[in-house]
Amino acid sequence: MPQYFPPNVNAFVRWSILGGGAFLVALLVALPIYARTMNNAVGVPVAQPIDFAHNLHAAQLGIDCRYCHTTVEVAGFANVPASETCMTCHSQVRVGAPQLAALWVSWERDTPIRWNRVHDMPEYVYFDHSAHLSNGVGCSTCHGRVDQMEGIWKNEPMTMGWCMECHRAPERFLRPRSEVFNMAYRPPRDQLILGQELVFAYHVDTEKLIQCSTCHR
Ligand code: HEC
Ligand code: HEC
Ligand code: HEC
Ligand code: HEC
Ligand code: HEC
Repeated sequence: MPQYFPPNVNAFVRWSILGGGAFLVALLVALPIYARTMNNAVGVPVAQPIDFAHNLHAAQLGIDCRYCHTTVEVAGFANVPASETCMTCHSQVRVGAPQLAALWVSWERDTPIRWNRVHDMPEYVYFDHSAHLSNGVGCSTCHGRVDQMEGIWKNEPMTMGWCMECHRAPERFLRPRSEVFNMAYRPPRDQLILGQELVFAYHVDTEKLIQCSTCHR
């Protein structure tokens, strides 16, 4: 009888099946973990160690975004405030409230609160807040009505396609710089005319916006 397969084929098949099985199991375990840590769902509030409410602090109490996110205008990264910032008020306001217990622990032990990230770009993507704010892109264009949210959610998919939708035609979204912190801003009816004026006035480099090396460097 002719031999169709080399003699060690059984071992080969056995190892491929075992190897493939192990790979599948690893994938099934890893994927949901990856999805949960790397990519919060759009529109779903992210659980936090303290139920900090943006609607209460930003809208009702009228605290400016920059009081807590102090670096957002001047740096790429928008910082989340240290417990010290909260304690400027909470050393006197609602002292002893159980909702604030974790804040006091953090303050007394001098250990930062471990806020869960809502947005988190992959390492290979470069992003810069100050560049957007100084060219007339408002917080609410990317983050939605944060001032109406109790817990923060990701308001947009933040995929490459989404970034490009604006980078290809920024005139559809730009507003005067003075309005970038205005959460209730509504674009005027002649947005395209205003947008084109702003592209010109702010020297927005529309060539650079669509180059790969702008976001991947
Ligand atoms: C009193 C302090 C305070 C003020 C004022 C404030 N924030 Fe925050 N912000 C926080 C804290 C604390 C977190 C982290 C907890 C969370 O995500 O809910 C946060 C988180 C965020 C996040 C999500 C960050 C991430 O993990 O990706 C965004 C977006 C944000 N704030 C936008 C704003 C905007 C826009 C304003 C102004 C309308 C504002 N914040 C005002 C304290 C503040
Ligand atoms: C400018 C003052 C101010 C700052 C800064 C501030 N808060 Fe508040 N916070 C308040 C006030 C006022 C209330 C509402 C108290 C009330 O309901 O009577 C409040 C309420 C709260 C509550 C609800 C407490 C309860 O008893 O239900 C939490 C939780 C809270 N703040 C967390 C924080 C955290 C965390 C930070 C820092 C990121 C922070 N706050 C920064 C003034 C402030
Ligand atoms: C052009 C879209 C855009 C605008 C405008 C914008 N953000 Fe963001 N924001 C993002 C992206 C994208 C991330 C995630 C960045 C990362 O993971 O590196 C982010 C993350 C954050 C974070 C988490 C910390 C960080 O830097 O990763 C905070 C806080 C925040 N934004 C607050 C604000 C505030 C406040 C404003 C307005 C003053 C604002 N953002 C305007 C897109 C935007
Ligand atoms: C609503 C419009 C809009 C959205 C959405 C947007 N951008 Fe931009 N982006 C701009 C404008 C306007 C500029 C300023 C261009 C200039 O400086 O000439 C800019 C500039 C940049 C720059 C250049 C910064 C520098 O210092 O050179 C990077 C990087 C960038 N954007 C990345 C992103 C990424 C990543 C996303 C998606 C997560 C994104 N942008 C979403 C409008 C937008
Ligand atoms: C405005 C910013 C921006 C520009 C310009 C840009 N990218 Fe991206 N890119 C992103 C973001 C944000 C992600 C990650 C989010 C996602 O998965 O979509 C990404 C992800 C990717 C990935 C990972 C795989 C994938 O699709 O998720 C590749 C590959 C990539 N980009 C290639 C390119 C190439 C090639 C160009 C030029 C033609 C380019 N990018 C231009 C923002 C940008």
